[in-house]
Amino acid sequence: MAETALFVDDEEYVLNSLERLFSNSEMRFLRAGSGEEALRILGEEEVAVLVSDNCMPGMDGIALHSRVKELSPDTLRILMTGHANLNTAMDAINRGEVFRFIVKPWEDEALLQIVSDAANRYQVIRSLREADEATLLSLAQTVELKDPYTRGHCDRVANYALMLADAFGLPETDKSEVKHGSWLHDCGKIGVAESVLNCAGPLNKEQFEMIKQHPTWGADVASQARLSERIVNIILCHHERYDGSGYPAGLKGEEIPFEARIVAVADVYDALVTDRPYKKGLPPETAREIMSSQRGASLDPEVLDTFLGLSVGQGGPDKEYVHD
Ligand SMILES: [Fe+2]
Ligand SMILES: [Fe+2]
Repeated sequence: MAETALFVDDEEYVLNSLERLFSNSEMRFLRAGSGEEALRILGEEEVAVLVSDNCMPGMDGIALHSRVKELSPDTLRILMTGHANLNTAMDAINRGEVFRFIVKPWEDEALLQIVSDAANRYQVIRSLREADEATLLSLAQTVELKDPYTRGHCDRVANYALMLADAFGLPETDKSEVKHGSWLHDCGKIGVAESVLNCAGPLNKEQFEMIKQHPTWGADVASQARLSERIVNIILCHHERYDGSGYPAGLKGEEIPFEARIVAVADVYDALVTDRPYKKGLPPETAREIMSSQRGASLDPEVLDTFLGLSVGQGGPDKEYVHD
């Protein structure tokens, strides 16, 4: 379904050129000549992305963004202004919590990309908000479609993580959050370009920086959709490493939430034994040896020992464990 973007500017010629720019995009284009008119439209329509000018007679852009934040909290807000200064940007970020800030004159390609990223993010937030199991799983599978080499990855990670959760005697509610967090751990990859996800060779620095944003991107949408803290932790911290050399925060040891340390072990095992664009999957025995060498380095020693004790890949518990 085409998402709706609403553009607000008091200059008619600006709206006209934006409308031309978006005429070939998949977005549905709506326009308003003032903040007041924009609010009226928002009362009647579901708007995924709001792009507004700042300097307008009557209600200015920042005031409009603050109102939209209350009226339609999921709408992603982008502020555009011709009078760029740090104060305006700070104000926008502090008061309106804008998604992006754009300086006029805009660059066409960059603006199209920012609005389409925002629409993507809106879709993810909306589907997470509905958060029944079928929705969560289908969202995880959407990520896998973008990155075909990871087909089944989320489900397998959930499978291994649940075995660990069981071994540690976690209560049922925690276990279901571990399952949902595992399904969603890579949901932030929706915000990463397919060319980067499917890159056959080693990634360059810029591509790796892009990949490194997926935990934060995913955790942002999950918390905006008000998923539980444990689920958000798993998404945010699944690439943290026990010795503090991971990302995004470089957390160390027990600073990393336990549920994320569990999912990290599950994630690494599955990444080692399955084929990826840049390498063949390894036999389980080799994967277990590599993981042992990471004991206390990238992986939590206790969680790792428990995982190795489960004899996964050696005729251990059966694979359909998740679907009980
Ligand atoms: Fe990941
Ligand atoms: Fe993963």
